[in-house]
Amino acid sequence: MAKLWAGRFQKETDLVVNDFNSSILFDCRLYKEDITGSIAHATMLGKQGIIEEHEAEKIVEGLKGILEDIEAGKVEFSLDYEDIHMNIEQLLTERIGDTGKRLHTGRSRNDQVALDMRLYVKKEIAEIIGLTLGFMKALCDKAKENLDTVMPGYTHLQRAQPTTFAHYMMAYANMLKRDVMRLEDCLERMDDMPLGSGALASTTYPIDRDFVREQLGFARLTDNSLDGVSDRDYCVELCADLSILMMHLSRLSEEIISWCSWEFKFVELDDAYSTGSSIMPQKKNPDVCELIRGKTGRVYGSLQTMLTVLKGLPLAYNKDMQEDKEAVFDAIDTVKQCLEVFTPMFSTMTLLKKNMRKAASKGFINATDCADYLTKKGVPFRDAYKTVGRLVNECIKADETLETLTLKDFGAISKVFGPDVYEALDLNTCVKERKAIGGPAPGEVMRQINKIEAFIASEEGE
Ligand code: ARG
Repeated sequence: MAKLWAGRFQKETDLVVNDFNSSILFDCRLYKEDITGSIAHATMLGKQGIIEEHEAEKIVEGLKGILEDIEAGKVEFSLDYEDIHMNIEQLLTERIGDTGKRLHTGRSRNDQVALDMRLYVKKEIAEIIGLTLGFMKALCDKAKENLDTVMPGYTHLQRAQPTTFAHYMMAYANMLKRDVMRLEDCLERMDDMPLGSGALASTTYPIDRDFVREQLGFARLTDNSLDGVSDRDYCVELCADLSILMMHLSRLSEEIISWCSWEFKFVELDDAYSTGSSIMPQKKNPDVCELIRGKTGRVYGSLQTMLTVLKGLPLAYNKDMQEDKEAVFDAIDTVKQCLEVFTPMFSTMTLLKKNMRKAASKGFINATDCADYLTKKGVPFRDAYKTVGRLVNECIKADETLETLTLKDFGAISKVFGPDVYEALDLNTCVKERKAIGGPAPGEVMRQINKIEAFIASEEGE
């Protein structure tokens, strides 16, 4: 089939190159952005008298019809027309005749694709923010139900100090809040409209870029045409932001995988969100969490792809840039899919509070509180720390816990201990007294929840 550039060439494109060069199989998803951009461009061309008004109208009508037909599944794209831009332009000309050939006046596929990607990424970021806020809500809801659910907190995966499930979940809510803020920051910075950059050096036609900008809802115009066609920073930023978001989901997934094991048994996933084994009849596996942990690698891969594709490119457009699409699309699709499955899996998860409590009562997680008890009675902290260290050592030898020691046992190590030590060692006290800002005391965690919920509300109000 004769190419657009057949006049310049003496041979047809090799079939292998034809397929290799083509991006329609993946950039077809930009059809709506491409048509929206073309409608704005054609309208501007008519308004500026660069083409006749009636021609602009005919083009716009033709494009609207194509959009409808694509959405109704009536259009088949062709590899021969390489990408979404040429497929749509070809369709337009087939449908409205020679007027269709005027659409590409004062425009290049280079600024066209730059526009389409920005429109697409803007829309997707808004969706990902919405899904992330939905997950944050689920975290807040679980936290509200578990303000008093005591569990061990860990360092080095060793039981360390008492906390609550609510406190734990709000840690993740704060991570996701930063993810939302990062995505918004990316959205804010990328809000520049590139059309009018042309192939690289703008155009000699009297175009009105600001009119197009307004039609398409961008905040600003790109300010340099070379940069306008070759900037993919926002794709890198998006992949970086999504990588961090996935890293958070992956960490929580890892925790849930551990908590599902017989070694912990802190939670039980709903049957609808677990899978069995083909051979071991007893198995109930946290596949969803494992897949999220695994898919995190894919999203990191997209970030690496973007950085590597761009690093050696001279200005302005180079075909390497076509490789941005699959990386960015895959990162977006993966993150959306993960959030869509994680939220209901998390909300339907049952907590085995007794097991959490049992784990909290072993492992001396109130040892710091025991030392603090002595310190509050005037013993310097370092001395108190040593005294409690000796107590723990005695307990391990005798298979006791701090709470099961008699007052005589305590007295043998330090005279400062009194009968009120048992109240100080009670796990509920240990949690209740950690009321410094950021701590696990129920009232303090409620403040954290209120703050995150106010953030969600303000985001959703926007
Ligand atoms: N399909 C191309 C891409 O995605 C569109 C731009 C092509 N421009 C060019 N000069 N070949 O990057």
